[in-house]
Amino acid sequence: MRLSHRPRLFLATLAVAAFSLAGCSKPPAEEDPAAVAARALALAPKDARLSELYQHSCRACHGVTGSGAPLAGDRAAWAPRRAKGEAQLLKSVVEGYRGMPAGGQCFACGPEDYKALVRFMSAPPKDAK
Ligand code: HEC
Repeated sequence: MRLSHRPRLFLATLAVAAFSLAGCSKPPAEEDPAAVAARALALAPKDARLSELYQHSCRACHGVTGSGAPLAGDRAAWAPRRAKGEAQLLKSVVEGYRGMPAGGQCFACGPEDYKALVRFMSAPPKDAK
């Protein structure tokens, strides 16, 4: 019986060591995927015209799970993409990027619309921790 406690103690020690190594760089709390999905489905830009453009194009992929697209308001999914810089993201939208179709299937979108739509989708939502 005694022996069986040791591996657990060892693991606990490892966990403590890992936490101390991580130091102050505490990762942000993981969000519940169901909450992220529900929010993405409900999100739309406040501006009426932009909202219409969004709902007729980007939302088909960026509003639903399983499309491979980073969900609107999904902070964790957008963090590495935001790190590329806005210019690079806009380039991906205009030229296409892997599963992302060129133009995002928005035929009425102009350059300013794309910029506003990318900002809207990639912005961390206010209710996220
Ligand atoms: C047919 C589905 C689809 C539509 C419609 C769509 N996207 Fe995407 N989008 C994707 C997928 C899939 C990815 C992820 C590509 C990857 O990283 O493999 C993506 C990625 C992106 C990225 C990140 C690109 C990068 O460099 O990391 C941006 C920005 C983006 N989409 C903006 C938009 C905008 C704005 C619209 C609407 C005008 C739109 N998308 C419409 C599927 C779509």
